[in-house]
Amino acid sequence: MANVVVVGSQWGDEGKGKIVDWLSERADVVVRFQGGHNAGHTLVIDGVKYKLSLLPSGVVRQDKMAVIGNGVVLDPRALADEIGRLAEQGVAVSEANLRIAENTPLILSLHQELDAIRENNSSADTRIGTTRRGIGPAYEDKVGRRAIRLMDLVNLNTLPGKIERLLVHHNAIRRGLGVEEISAQTIYDELVGVADKILPFMDKVWYLLDERRKAGDRILFEGAQGALLDIDHGTYPFVTSSNTIAGQAATGSGLGPNAINYVLGITKAYTTRVGEGPFPTELNDEIGQFLGERGHEFGTVTGRQRRCGWFDAVLVRQTCKTSGISGIALTKLDVLDGLDEIKVCVAYELDGKRIDYLPASQGQQARVKPIYETLEGWSGTTAGARTWNDLPAQAVKYVRHIEELIEAPVALLSTSPERDDTILVQDPFED
Ligand code: GDP
Ligand code: IMO
Ligand code: MG
Repeated sequence: MANVVVVGSQWGDEGKGKIVDWLSERADVVVRFQGGHNAGHTLVIDGVKYKLSLLPSGVVRQDKMAVIGNGVVLDPRALADEIGRLAEQGVAVSEANLRIAENTPLILSLHQELDAIRENNSSADTRIGTTRRGIGPAYEDKVGRRAIRLMDLVNLNTLPGKIERLLVHHNAIRRGLGVEEISAQTIYDELVGVADKILPFMDKVWYLLDERRKAGDRILFEGAQGALLDIDHGTYPFVTSSNTIAGQAATGSGLGPNAINYVLGITKAYTTRVGEGPFPTELNDEIGQFLGERGHEFGTVTGRQRRCGWFDAVLVRQTCKTSGISGIALTKLDVLDGLDEIKVCVAYELDGKRIDYLPASQGQQARVKPIYETLEGWSGTTAGARTWNDLPAQAVKYVRHIEELIEAPVALLSTSPERDDTILVQDPFED
């Protein structure tokens, strides 16, 4: 039995898509278990770029089963668009290779609209900087027990009652916001319009995964976002609305946690963040600009410029604990090529005291100051390296130092966006 969970260990965009794509060669089933089309996962295969938001990155390999678990919030129109875009790139997605949990809550147009209204109405210091995809409002309805779930599209006789329930809540909010109310017929038409396209993918995912597990198949879980965007363990309230840490792979799919053998944390060799919120090692200088340009740090989903900063070992060490990370995939090492010196945050100063963790309080998170160690850079290049021996000695030192600071080993090393520019140190499926 060898099932692996991949999660982001920072604020998202660590390179999860690339690593999941690379690892999926060794897997049979690839599962998304939280988030929605706020995710943007980029794969580059022989120079061709694929951008995935809702579909698991394993979908580009035709012999793999792609699964969307109940922990995801699913926008049916976004799914149809993504399937269409992939078809244009020659990737076929059908009922044969995509299954979606029947108990997956749906994102409706009213969720997206509410997300945008809230962002537009917020002041500079309260705005979250969401992707405006309706993620937060959809999760609120799930937890509020009024969501429309995929299986609700099967019985059109009971659907109107569920829509009424949902609208009692939403129209009250809309009245408060001074926005026009929505009629039940509008939502009904929206749902009936997509039902035929999406219902063929519906399945009992917990059952399917149990069958595949018993058959000895390898299951790979693909996290979205990153640990510091987790609704409980992240930089609240500047977070997404789901649990993004590894424990969610079990609840968001229905496969029990004892079936998970390895947690791979995807970790960028520096730090980025898109959207608002604290970022202790952020660099608002020419080095931050250099990292952004060299690393092409622009959002896959929204095109927004990502904020950049030095590697923060305090954060990643904490993430390694909260996600139970067995090993990391260190990505984008090549972006640091050519820097004279590289800083790494090893602790924080908070109100004159040294601490080795990120406090939970919003006020304290805003006040922590990074304490840095400075390492020598390297003059050679790591870009495109495919073996450990191709790495400059100083780059190896940097990697080894990160391992020590975060108390977790490097299992994979990524040296460019290309699928095959990846160095395997320890196979998560064989651990
Ligand atoms: P994800 O959301 O975690 O899947 O990451 P994104 O795809 O949003 O962002 C990561 C970006 O870095 C993408 O453009 C990748 O193609 C690219 N990338 C991934 N690994 C590497 C790497 O090792 N080096 C470089 N230079 N780019 C990488
Ligand atoms: P991947 O999977 C980076 C951020 C948004 C915002 C906050 C809340 O590509 O790593 P939301 O729309 O989820 O309510 O926004 O979370 N965010 C991400 N940042 N990568 C992502 O996904 C993200 N998904 C959401 O920018 O700050
Ligand atoms: Mg991304």
